Amino acid sequence: AGRRPLVAGNWKMNGTRSSLAVVESVRQGLTPELAERIDVLICPPSTLIASCVAAAYGSPIAIGGQNLHAKPNGAFTGSISAEMLSDLGARYVIVGHSERRAYHHETDDGVHAKALGARRAGLCGIICVGETKEEREQGRALDIVRAQLAIGVPKGATAADTVIAYEPVWAIGTGLTPTPKDIAEVHASLREMLDKLVGAEAEKIRIVYGGSVKPGNARELMSVENVDGALVGGASLVAEDFLGICAAY
Ligand code: G3H
Repeated sequence: AGRRPLVAGNWKMNGTRSSLAVVESVRQGLTPELAERIDVLICPPSTLIASCVAAAYGSPIAIGGQNLHAKPNGAFTGSISAEMLSDLGARYVIVGHSERRAYHHETDDGVHAKALGARRAGLCGIICVGETKEEREQGRALDIVRAQLAIGVPKGATAADTVIAYEPVWAIGTGLTPTPKDIAEVHASLREMLDKLVGAEAEKIRIVYGGSVKPGNARELMSVENVDGALVGGASLVAEDFLGICAAY
């Protein structure tokens, strides 16, 4: 449906200034032909956003945050707002990653508030949904991700301010992935729910897959219907691997 693929790297809590070399290598390795076909994004830890923006300056690589506070400013020690991310040159921000949900007690309502914050500051929010292993085994995967989407996605969401990431919790950092058939089922279901939420715009909003995406499986995963790119954790820390995933397009 003419959706431009997005390959996004999430460095999580990894990287020091020496990691700028990864951005430099991705920049070198990204051919103009590829950059014409896909959007490429790197989400480093907050400490490296400014320097990554500088390292990516003038290249097709966008830089994003991994989390934000929903409010623009205030007495929230240690937190960072969408406005602050935007001020540094970030263009995207990950919202409601399963690690935030699990270790920082983020709720679907909290995700909704953060997505609104991202939009307020002109950032594109990457809203993450995904079921646990137990939920999948109980046959509840679709119910879980549909509910996360229904609550998390703000009214009037558009392709410019919203990306959805389907990340089954059990596939993150484990080397396990759902079958292409299972991924297709979830993405189709998410697209249908998006249609209920935002109408015709649903066709334009990208739904990316995340969870153990590697150069070796990227082609198969990215060719699944309704999969509009990848959210890459571990493999995004190595420029060669990240470029290998980009090359699936
Ligand atoms: O945000 C990225 C995901 O959590 C995937 O991580 O590629 O290391 O499995 P992974």
